[in-house]
Amino acid sequence: MRVPSVSYITDGGSPSDVRVVLIDEDLIDEAVVSELGSAVCSTYFSKINELTSGKVNSVLIHLAEASPVFIVTLPSGRRSSDLREAGALIGNLKNVSRLSLRQESNALRVSDIEVLVNAIALGSYEFNVYRSEQEDGEAKEVVLQIEGLDQREVEEAVARGLNSAWATCFARDLVNEPPSRLTPEVFAQRISDEANGVSNLVVEVWDRRRIEDERLGGLLGVAAGSVQDPRVVKLSYKGEGSARKVALVGKGITFDSGGLNIKTFEGMKTMKTDMAGAAAVMASTIALAKAKAPVEIVAFAMLTENMPSGSATKPGDVLVTRSGQTIEVLNTDAEGRLVLSDGLTLAREEGPDYILDLATLTGACVVALGDEIAGILGNNDELISEVIEAGKKVDEELWHLPIPARYRSHIKSEIADMRNIGETGQAGATAGALLLERFVGDVPWAHLDIAGPSRSSSNKGVRKVGGTGFGAALLIELLS
Ligand code: BES
Ligand code: ZN
Ligand code: ZN
Repeated sequence: MRVPSVSYITDGGSPSDVRVVLIDEDLIDEAVVSELGSAVCSTYFSKINELTSGKVNSVLIHLAEASPVFIVTLPSGRRSSDLREAGALIGNLKNVSRLSLRQESNALRVSDIEVLVNAIALGSYEFNVYRSEQEDGEAKEVVLQIEGLDQREVEEAVARGLNSAWATCFARDLVNEPPSRLTPEVFAQRISDEANGVSNLVVEVWDRRRIEDERLGGLLGVAAGSVQDPRVVKLSYKGEGSARKVALVGKGITFDSGGLNIKTFEGMKTMKTDMAGAAAVMASTIALAKAKAPVEIVAFAMLTENMPSGSATKPGDVLVTRSGQTIEVLNTDAEGRLVLSDGLTLAREEGPDYILDLATLTGACVVALGDEIAGILGNNDELISEVIEAGKKVDEELWHLPIPARYRSHIKSEIADMRNIGETGQAGATAGALLLERFVGDVPWAHLDIAGPSRSSSNKGVRKVGGTGFGAALLIELLS
């Protein structure tokens, strides 16, 4: 992953592979003529006409004696989603390492720059590590030539847009890495490598010994079938002037085979993605620390594989979690809630103002909301609204699902404090949250079930096929 470099100039031209012109659709005639000259324009008349259709549109025009021009039009009354789409188109330009971006009509505000730059960076993301023919090329160089904006404010907006994109792309890289390469140990190492040296950020990695000493019975129960040892990564960050303390927990199953309740071919194909919650939580915490955000964060990544073997946890086994509460494991594929039970206990012990957990927890949530919307469940409506609003700002959509008290019986166990599944065929995302709820006490808490949007099956705007990094931008927006 390479995030583009972006510089800002107000005058003159600069050599580039492509000149990008961002135009309000209403101004298309004058702007295009001034860029291309009327002679060339008439040749492209029909194409240019297509650009005025009330949507974001683009056309790449090759010129005989100058670098190509990429015209991107924004509809009148544009919203930030239009800027994001425009940015994705620009980022997506292939074989372009230097591009200049000019804007006609002075309509871009500083806040637009942040969105645009972020989308250019996300749109240019590719994961080519394992393609023998293709190298992960140089990072794009973007030169913004926009008049009438304050230099310092633009530079700050660019930095914010790029920092958030870095976090999303780092999380994408972790998700896209093949599961036998990104073991819990390697995941922890990758986080340490990025976190070391960032000021006010402390990273701790717990190995099996420490995990046993800390009595993390839920995590150990899931790890029992794997030859890979589990890990916990704890990031602690205290920004200057921080008014609130937030605890984050991420599900980090580096591969979910289902365990002895083994998944099908279809179900298992994408299960390297099952650590996307941990990736988003770690990436956003590092980014917030880099940006010196005024907030205190303690973030836990609960890392293990979920594998079948002679030593694996069996359906019917009972785990004793760190909290002392016991869980009867009736389905070894409902392992996320087992590792999160310990993560949430650790989070609660930190005395935070609130707790957020991110997890690719249930297929039921994907059935309910599809692959572009995450579920959010919790014990505090105000907190949930705040998180949903932050998500809207960064195009990470969440939908509030309930945890009704009348369903508490769904996770009753014959022999333990609770069981790790709900009623067959009923409220699967809620059943997961009903169990998690038992570990947060009365601390305000929200659980983000990102099973759907954590990966994308195709390129869609700023989302690329594979890991999406969903949740990282939202956490940065919420906690900045
Ligand atoms: N990691 C899966 C959930 C998942 C499914 C994520 C599809 C992304 C896409 C989770 O560990 C799981 O398998 N959950 C089970 C729970 C069930 C056994 C109660 C599920 O959803 O089927
Ligand atoms: Zn599972
Ligand atoms: Zn899982």
